[in-house]
Amino acid sequence: MLVWRKWFTPLAADVWVAAWGRRFGQRMIVTQEVHRSTVRVDVYARGESGAARLKSRFGGRVLRLTPAVWWRPQVPRAMPLRIGRRLLVVATEKKAAEWRRRYPQRAVVSIPAGPAFGTGQHASTRMCLRALCDAWPFGSLLDAGCGAGILAIAGAKLGARRVQAFDCDPAAVRETRVNARRNGVRFLVRRMDLASLEANRFDVLAANILSGPLVAHAGRLRRSVRRGGRMILSGIRPNQEAEIVRAFVGCRLVGRRSSDGWVCLVMKRL
Ligand SMILES: C[S@@+](CC[C@H](N)C(=O)[O-])C[C@H]1O[C@@H](n2cnc3c(N)ncnc32)[C@H](O)[C@@H]1O
Repeated sequence: MLVWRKWFTPLAADVWVAAWGRRFGQRMIVTQEVHRSTVRVDVYARGESGAARLKSRFGGRVLRLTPAVWWRPQVPRAMPLRIGRRLLVVATEKKAAEWRRRYPQRAVVSIPAGPAFGTGQHASTRMCLRALCDAWPFGSLLDAGCGAGILAIAGAKLGARRVQAFDCDPAAVRETRVNARRNGVRFLVRRMDLASLEANRFDVLAANILSGPLVAHAGRLRRSVRRGGRMILSGIRPNQEAEIVRAFVGCRLVGRRSSDGWVCLVMKRL
């Protein structure tokens, strides 16, 4: 995730936001902290080239937010992670073999800790896994912002015939490919930004991304699933829920879970 950041005086921030706020919309976050006399403006960039354009035009700097910066794991990982009656997530191949023997009727996913986000430790991922199990059976799945690939791999392990995954972070793409091989499943993994998502007819979409990108790209996300298809949207704070529901025009809220201060919504395309 690339973020362009610049500090302004309050007056200069007002002028900048008046001039550019509409253009960046939901991708822009303006923060004034009580103990500072300056105002921070962040814009979530559209890929490397978008970030470079922002920097060359407005100065400031570009930050690469790693999962460790923008997501803090909130609970120690309980092993194996049991998701309903269908899925188990473990951290090593040895454990995976052991749990496959013990529970042959369950899909067992093995995801070791790595640089990309998504070992199942974070509540937002766990709620997506649960929503995937609730949505089963489905024929096709798109994992948008796949991190370590856990959701795509879980979908493939459950038995989805067509699975695709993408992430804007090349490290996440590499890790998803490695993890897919480790789990003995094959699917298309691409390096791509949400801004380039094309229309498609997936049965289920899983997008565990922060609410800013979800709102900014709601139309694209909606068009990536067929009519009647489900969108599992996670990485949302409770105070952002209403905005998400409003942004997904032509969809109906059909499911909601919350845990550890995070919310996961399931929307159905009408
Ligand atoms: C919170 S992680 C989720 C990883 C995994 N899907 C999970 O549920 O654990 C969000 C992922 O979305 C990716 N991401 C964020 N903004 C994106 C964008 N605009 N386009 C594509 N991927 C994006 C990040 O690089 C990160 O890997």
